[in-house]
Order: sequence, then structure tokens, then C-alpha cells
Amino acid sequence: MEKKLIWDIPTRLFHWLLVFSLAGQYVTAELMDNVMQWHFYLGYFTLGLIIFRLIWGIAGSDYAKFSQFIYGPRAVLRYAGTLFKRASEAHAGHNPLGGWVVIIMLSLVAVQAVSGLFMTDDIFLDGPWRAAVEDSTLKTMSYLHNNVFNILLVVIALHIAAIGFYAVYKKQKLAPAMVHGKKSTNEAGIPSSRLLAAVVVALISAGIVYYVVEIAPPEVEEEYYY
Ligand code: HEM
Ligand code: HEM
Repeated sequence: MEKKLIWDIPTRLFHWLLVFSLAGQYVTAELMDNVMQWHFYLGYFTLGLIIFRLIWGIAGSDYAKFSQFIYGPRAVLRYAGTLFKRASEAHAGHNPLGGWVVIIMLSLVAVQAVSGLFMTDDIFLDGPWRAAVEDSTLKTMSYLHNNVFNILLVVIALHIAAIGFYAVYKKQKLAPAMVHGKKSTNEAGIPSSRLLAAVVVALISAGIVYYVVEIAPPEVEEEYYY
């Protein structure tokens, strides 16, 4: 089997930047004091990553496309039935079960980032959309923000355990391909990483984040106490 390019550079960069920024979000919210502003900035960055990935899931290279790794229930069940077979079929892209785990992870991060926009730290800092909503909505958003992260942690633990399980039990080493992009496979590789397209998509994503965070939110009336 030949080694072929499967994960383009933008998808790999997205993956490791997501790992880095989620770790940063945890540290700035739970472990450090007086860094809420950095938690906000990192949150906007994470929101940008998710928007990038959504567009890249439509306009990216083959294996990054949602249409390539979203399978129907029958394929998922058939694959799930072979999960504990050592010699189950290897997939160049995400397998039918893993594809849905990817969708779940992306959705949870999206809920986390969007709910953050409505949050307040009750001291100095309000998220950009705090002023747009009633207290009841703030409550819902806080509830989501405080609890969805715990679900995300469980799914991430499962994700990492699955990578370990594939490496040890099935002798399918998936992690190196998320670093160098290449896999030995009979399926077709991708011709290139489409870096120019990725730069354009990254700029569009940054523009959308800027609009959502800086331009669209309602003006906040400053309150002064003398
Ligand atoms: C905060 C922790 C992590 C998060 C949130 C995360 C999230 C994700 C996401 C969203 C994807 C889908 C990539 C895409 O198509 O865009 C993915 C795939 C992948 N991740 Fe992670 N990941 C994390 C940690 C790790 C770690 C530590 C490893 C390495 C041991 C790893 C290895 C992989 C691999 C190998 C794939 C491709 C799976 C496949 O072959 O189908 N991830 N991850
Ligand atoms: C995906 C991105 C994000 C992640 C993973 C994340 C994660 C977290 C976590 C784990 C907490 C602690 C919750 C707890 O105490 O149980 C937290 C709190 C908080 N986050 Fe985020 N967050 C994200 C985005 C944002 C954004 C975009 C904003 C605002 C613009 C924001 C604002 C806040 C605030 C105000 C708190 C409460 C801090 C306090 O208790 O005083 N977050 N976040």
C-alpha cells in the first residue's frame, strides 16, 4: 500500500489549534484568576475555528468534507458491529462511527463558544451579547456554558481512548496521520492541501467573528456611579 495524503494541512492545523484553545479556555476559566479577558479572546478564536471548519467541511479537500464522512444509520450500525473485530475495515477518512463523534464534538464546542457570548463574570466583564438578552436567557446560557463543557470533556476522553484502542487492539495507528497527514491506504489520496483556499476561508471566518463580536451586538449604555 502506498502512503498518500489524506488530511490536508488546514484540517490538521484546525485540529491542533482546537486542542490548544480548548486547553487555554479551561485554564483561563478554572485555574487562573484575572484572565477573563483572555478567556474571551480565546473564545472568539475558538468560534472562528468552528466557523472555519464548517466552511471547510463544504469547500475543503475530499476527506475534510462532511459529505465524505457523514454516513446513514445502516452504515453506522454495520461498522459498529465490527468495532471489536481486530481486523475490521480501515478507512482512509473518518470511519462511519467516528464521523458522528466529530460532528458531536464540533457541535458541543459551537454551543460552548456561542453561549459564552452571552455570559458575564458578574464583576467587570460582559460577553458582547449580554446586553441583548433578558436575565432568563442569561441563566440558560450560563447553564449551558457551565455544563456543556463537562459533556465535551467526556467526549474528548472517549475520542482519545478510541485512538488508543485503535492503536493497541486493532493496530491501526490514526494519530500520526493527524500530524503528517499521510496514511498507507488503497483509497485515493488528495492532490493537495488547497492552502490558498484555506487562507480565504480563514479570512472569511475572521470577518464573521469580527462582525458577531464587534459590529452586530447592541450598544451598551455605560453606567457611571458618582
Ligand atoms: C481537546 C482535545 C481534542 C479535541 C477537541 C479533538 C477534536 C477532534 C476533531 C474535531 C476531529 C475531527 C477532525 C476534523 O475532521 O476536522 C478529531 C480527529 C482526530 N483526532 Fe482529535 N481532538 C482532541 C485531542 C486529540 C489527541 C490528543 C489526539 C492524539 C492522540 C487526537 C487525534 C485525532 C485523530 C487521529 C483524528 C482523526 C481520526 C480519524 O482518523 O478518523 N485528538 N479530533
Ligand atoms: C469554546 C469556547 C469556550 C470554552 C471551552 C469555555 C469554557 C469555559 C469553562 C470551562 C468555564 C468554567 C465554567 C464553570 O465554572 O463551571 C467558563 C466560564 C466562563 N466563560 Fe467560557 N468558554 C468558552 C467561550 C467563552 C466566550 C466566547 C466567552 C465570552 C465572550 C466566555 C465567557 C465566560 C464567562 C464570563 C465565564 C464565567 C466565569 C466566572 O464564573 O466568573 N466563554 N468557560
